[in-house]
Amino acid sequence: MKEIFHRVSVRKFEETKVEKEKLEKLLRAAMQSPSAMNQQPWEFYVIEDKDILLKLSKATPYSMCVKNAPMAIVICYQKETPANEYKEIDCAIATENILLEADGLGLGGVMIGVAPVEERMQKVEEILSLPTNLRAFTIIPIGYPLKQKTQEDRYNPSKVHYI
Ligand SMILES: Cc1cc2nc3c(=O)[nH]c(=O)nc-3n(C[C@H](O)[C@H](O)[C@H](O)COP(=O)(O)O)c2cc1C
Repeated sequence: MKEIFHRVSVRKFEETKVEKEKLEKLLRAAMQSPSAMNQQPWEFYVIEDKDILLKLSKATPYSMCVKNAPMAIVICYQKETPANEYKEIDCAIATENILLEADGLGLGGVMIGVAPVEERMQKVEEILSLPTNLRAFTIIPIGYPLKQKTQEDRYNPSKVHYI
């Protein structure tokens, strides 16, 4: 479990590509996530095309770092699922699994907020020409970190309430 206490958001990357084997491990980690009714609402788009990465970097006001990444994974979800209200929560858990696995593999990444902001979702869907049954959830640029950052200790006893 060392990754939980080591992972940090990484927004600057080396140019080195992410190896295919490592990419598969990231996707495997995502798909092992728990989901409501085990509905697995996710679909994963792997983007290495520089032009598309550049477009994604402009899809939200806070996604600039995507243009410097060797690749990004865009997590999408199906519009209609058995436990419909929970599909975004499911995708958020899958996002964290990817970020933790990336850390364990010596990679780094960051969750870029897309859903639930409708305008950002539509932009990403347009850029990727997503089928109409899918919605964009998040962009995760991933690569080898340019610099090593130390995680801050956020443990705050005042957030814990004993009854
Ligand atoms: C729901 C969510 C949305 C986020 N959106 C962005 C974003 O749009 N751009 C960005 O650079 N970082 C984004 N982040 C990363 C946070 O800024 C980061 O997790 C936070 O500052 C804590 O830093 P750490 O991840 O290094 O612990 C997002 C994180 C979450 C959980």
